[in-house]
Amino acid sequence: MPALFPLDRNAPSTLQQQVREHLVNAILNGFIAADRALPSCRNLAKNLNVARNTIVQVYDDLVSDGYLIARERRGYFVNPDLPAAQPAIPGTGHGSLPALDWTHRLKVSPGQQPNASLSHNWQRYRYPFVYSQLDSSLFPLDHWRKCWRDAVSVQAIKDWSSDRYDSDDPLLLEQLQRRILPGRGIQAHTDEILITVGSQQALYLLAQLLLDEKSCFGIEDPGYPSAAHIARLFGARVQSLAVDKEGLVINDRLSGCRAIYLTPSHQCPTTVTLPLERRQALLEQAELHDFLLIEDDYEMEMNFGSHPTPALKSMDNRGRVLYVGSLSKTLAPGLRLGFLVGPAPLIREARNLRQLMLRHPPLNNQRAVALFLSLGYHDTLVRKLAREFEQRARCLSDALQQHLPDCRASSIGGSSCWLTLPAGLDGTELKKRAADHGLLIISGDSYHIGAGLPTNTVKLGFSAIPLDRIEPGIRLLAEVKAELAKKQEKEGI
Ligand SMILES: Cc1ncc(COP(=O)(O)O)c(C=O)c1O
Repeated sequence: MPALFPLDRNAPSTLQQQVREHLVNAILNGFIAADRALPSCRNLAKNLNVARNTIVQVYDDLVSDGYLIARERRGYFVNPDLPAAQPAIPGTGHGSLPALDWTHRLKVSPGQQPNASLSHNWQRYRYPFVYSQLDSSLFPLDHWRKCWRDAVSVQAIKDWSSDRYDSDDPLLLEQLQRRILPGRGIQAHTDEILITVGSQQALYLLAQLLLDEKSCFGIEDPGYPSAAHIARLFGARVQSLAVDKEGLVINDRLSGCRAIYLTPSHQCPTTVTLPLERRQALLEQAELHDFLLIEDDYEMEMNFGSHPTPALKSMDNRGRVLYVGSLSKTLAPGLRLGFLVGPAPLIREARNLRQLMLRHPPLNNQRAVALFLSLGYHDTLVRKLAREFEQRARCLSDALQQHLPDCRASSIGGSSCWLTLPAGLDGTELKKRAADHGLLIISGDSYHIGAGLPTNTVKLGFSAIPLDRIEPGIRLLAEVKAELAKKQEKEGI
């Protein structure tokens, strides 16, 4: 039995949780012999340099959870009724046989697709101009904790603790129907709404339901690479569609597509808003050529610069627009809560498909979010984020004008800005050099769907970087850019 193991006193989890985790692992991996008593509370506490009560509490909890049994005057033992322990190290017991070759077994290799512009350790950077992450100081801690507590009331647990194959949390559906969707100009019945594990799952479900090897999937270029990756996974041909300073260009290239993915409210990545006339023209084209539109409204109401434009879905009276929404940009991307709105027959099959994948997104999460919406906390949060992001956007815009006057910024909307560097300057090289200085930016090529787009672009997110770091960050970026330009000039590039 490990009577000594490392405890991290700076970790977010408590010492009690860490001790429990170590013991449970040791028990489940078969590291504790059934016939030998665990160390006494006093000894273990002494070894680990923690309070005796900490160990007493852990042992008591493990007894009530069935991992341990207490034998009078002999101490604590592993419960012999636990299922047989798993081998601790995968692969033991296989002798010297070579490892399996997986290359020809896997039918798809999603890992082959270039992925994620995101750095997983972005918090370590002093100037994280990352996109799609939130500054944790903006998280509505007290409101969320309250909802989370209410979501584990006895009644709430009764509501969510059993599987719900064919529906979602009714309160959440009602809140989306009454609170979120009307704010985007959308009216939907509850059988036209499906809760998903983020918009990612909504896109995946749609691709699996709508695409095959014979399909052509249209997508803005530059655009959201995840959507293209998913379409390719189902064998679809990905058709890149031009984007200009007003968003998706409506031209002949749209006509052969079975479905077109677009981000009309804030084009991803350029942030521009698709004007009304183009939206109308697009719907007409969809009718004429019989294609579907997948509207990703990922930033929903985060539109502080002007009056929010209603969703494309609000103009759709034929059920051609399949609307994808997400709470990742307001509440937290880690929560993984999104939703899909479309005609009832499509939603029914999406629900059936979702059931085969994961039955449903966790209902305790659904209930906590439903409460968060119903108590008006989400509205409060959106207002707070809008104020905060507006300030950050203004600060970023001023800093760009002051320090990078030769770069062209898109209208700054939502939570990011798309920056065009002087011709010849490579965004990927700038990103690499910036990272060496503690500055995290995203190079524009991360959003290229096809080939041939210019590489002198970068995306600067401002949802994760605190206000007071924006100006110094851009000043530093200007220095790094100047260095790169000098080097290229010397090399005659
Ligand atoms: C275009 C776009 N759609 C959707 C999302 C959010 O996806 P999810 O709801 O899966 O977090 C993002 C996040 O960065 C995005 O950029």
